[in-house]
Amino acid sequence: MHTILHKKMLIERTWNMRIKAPLIAKKCQAGQFLMLRIDEKGERVPLTIADWNREEGTVDIYFQEIGASTERLATLEEGDAILDMVGPLGNPSHVTKLDGTFVMVGGGFGIAAGYPVARAFKQAGNRVIAVLGAKTKGLLICEDMLKSTCDEVLVATNDGSYGVQGLVSDILEELLDKGENIRMIFPVGPPIMMKVISEMTKPLKIKTVVSLNPVMVDGTGMCGSCRVTVGGKTRFVCSEGIDFDGHEVDWDEMMSRQKMYSRQEQEALVHYHEHGTCHGGNR
Ligand SMILES: Cc1cc2nc3c(=O)[nH]c(=O)nc-3n(C[C@H](O)[C@H](O)[C@H](O)COP(=O)(O)OP(=O)(O)OC[C@H]3O[C@@H](n4cnc5c(N)ncnc54)[C@H](O)[C@@H]3O)c2cc1C
Ligand code: FES
Repeated sequence: MHTILHKKMLIERTWNMRIKAPLIAKKCQAGQFLMLRIDEKGERVPLTIADWNREEGTVDIYFQEIGASTERLATLEEGDAILDMVGPLGNPSHVTKLDGTFVMVGGGFGIAAGYPVARAFKQAGNRVIAVLGAKTKGLLICEDMLKSTCDEVLVATNDGSYGVQGLVSDILEELLDKGENIRMIFPVGPPIMMKVISEMTKPLKIKTVVSLNPVMVDGTGMCGSCRVTVGGKTRFVCSEGIDFDGHEVDWDEMMSRQKMYSRQEQEALVHYHEHGTCHGGNR
């Protein structure tokens, strides 16, 4: 059992939890994730390990309520326990000293998920810029956390309520126009954002590593549900990633596979709203 030590709402339906998980905290590195199961009827939910404290044996997760499991997770309070948590899973991000700037591009929960990778690149001696995107100012998360780590934090909001009006890709274009020597871009968040950035940087030959988030079931390379095509080859994201060359990912396939359980997910949400429990088992 893993006790929730701290819970904080960042914005509506988006939460940060600090959870006791000494074995995961002891080993995890930037870019890895964990899988949790709230109770014996719960689905396995993959979430990025956004931060950790090895001495205190804690890990931090940031999550959005978007379906039955994440809504149920959000009802847990400090002092409650999560039945099981497995991790760290996936390979750590490959962190190097670059001959130029590292840019982390985050949207949605990806802002928190990109934080440990941005921090690791900073600790490796790089100039690090974080480019964050949100629909509106009130939906932006983790800006201060990134400001404490990165050389610069730039924000784009769709409605112009904060930062630049537009998309994260507009900020990237501006940086390139200004002559920023970008050597690596790390987009993490909604697949459509990762696709757009990858398509933008491909002709410019800027290394673009994406952190993929397909539907996962076991998280250890056995079920095949997380398969994506990268460079024409089938790859299992959980065991071979989660980072891949964004220029080689078959984005349309990845995005259509992400929706393949929509009906079951909707049924699970209705069941949860009616009965207050998840109906058990994975897809
Ligand atoms: C490696 C990885 C890291 C992730 N990190 C985070 C994170 O830090 N914060 C966060 O908010 N979300 C993260 N996600 C997404 C998160 O796992 C899903 O939002 C969650 O599983 C949704 O479950 P649900 O029952 O609430 O919603 P559902 O109604 O079941 O699903 C809603 C949508 O979420 C996605 N999803 C559903 N189940 C899974 C699953 N088992 N694996 C992956 N995606 C799924 C699908 O696109 C689906 O359409 C991550 C996913 C992966 C694969
Ligand atoms: S989640 Fe089962 S193989 Fe990756």
